Amino acid sequence: MVVLGVTGGIAVYKACDLARELMRRGCRVKVVMTAAAQRFVTPLTFRTLTGEPVGVSLWDDPASRVHHISLADEADVLAIAPCTANVIVKLAQGRADDLLTTTALATEARLVIAPAMNTHMWRKDAVAGAVATLRGCGARFVEPATGELACGDVGEGRLAEVGVIADAVMAEVTCSRSLAGVRVLVTAGPTREPIDAVRFIGNRSSGRQGYAVADEAARRGADVTLVSGPTALPDPFGVRVVRVETASEMHGAVEAAYSDCDLVVMAAAVADMRPAAPASGKLKKDAAPETLQLERTEDILAALGRRKGTRVLVGFAAETEHVLEHAREKLTAKNLDLVVANDVSAPGAGFDGPTNVVVFVTPEGEESLPLMGKEAVARALLDRLDPMVKGRESC
Ligand code: CTP
Repeated sequence: MVVLGVTGGIAVYKACDLARELMRRGCRVKVVMTAAAQRFVTPLTFRTLTGEPVGVSLWDDPASRVHHISLADEADVLAIAPCTANVIVKLAQGRADDLLTTTALATEARLVIAPAMNTHMWRKDAVAGAVATLRGCGARFVEPATGELACGDVGEGRLAEVGVIADAVMAEVTCSRSLAGVRVLVTAGPTREPIDAVRFIGNRSSGRQGYAVADEAARRGADVTLVSGPTALPDPFGVRVVRVETASEMHGAVEAAYSDCDLVVMAAAVADMRPAAPASGKLKKDAAPETLQLERTEDILAALGRRKGTRVLVGFAAETEHVLEHAREKLTAKNLDLVVANDVSAPGAGFDGPTNVVVFVTPEGEESLPLMGKEAVARALLDRLDPMVKGRESC
């Protein structure tokens, strides 16, 4: 189901066509209008076009369950067209003061935004910053077109053509169930290798990237198992989560799920070394050794690569130098289909923050992505993996 948000600009009349076009392409469409939009077109128009009740206020529809929540849950895609500067900035700030912005905040649906405004407004830093924030959270923007604007100015800011917006919405609708029936195994987070009963060797991984991949795969209809090292993150909705501590426990949990999966995304930062003889109690400092004897942990992904079958295997390569070279080596050495390479020392990239800068490395070549939120990286990754998984299924 597509929830079509309509905000107040002269281009609202084109949203009527958009609603019809989406219905022609097989979508059920429910419209939510802001108060300003209703100054241009009445809810009756959309009600008649879509055959569905039109949401106009947080306080309407007392007969159903909480309206913004039911809309938020029902939506596969929330498309906002036309979207004013005001609403773009509110969405970026997480403000929720009407039915549309509250639904947008409550929904897990994919967001498509088609802005329409005066050229100067579109170019203002406040708007550009909000667009960048929303893009970083995975929103898809349908760029405004250049031409004559209703205010008489000529420039960028016209609502994109209805067909172009409909294409963007349909692309999101299609991928919203694209992994139905696919069994996905994701690992995330660090591992902790005990030194004694209270100390461990660990790393800075927050788990966010792997959790974002698991969450996105589940939202595309996949059956997802997430094997997670210790993180502070909540379980993603609709995902089976197996919590582990050590590399050895992670290996066990991954092996248990491996026979039943089609796609593995190994995002975990697995420790390469562990103390060879951890103490069972707490070491007292006077009795503690001055050097730690370490031993290698098992390389989980390499072991999976040796028994790959028809599965698609994805690894991560966290590097601080010669990023692509090392990523290509890992691709071959571990028998992978794709490596997500990142320079963990680059600004905005790496283990602990909300953003990442990655390159997808495959046997065919490389694709560099710009600085993005980890959710957007997860989306781009699954867009890329989707045809690979389907190609294997049909083998
Ligand atoms: N990996 C794994 N088991 C390990 C170490 C790493 O499965 N014991 C996986 C990671 O989850 C990641 C990939 O292998 O998907 C690459 O991990 P990375 O730490 O970048 O590389 P390593 O293979 O450990 O090599 P190095 O540390 O020398 O770069």
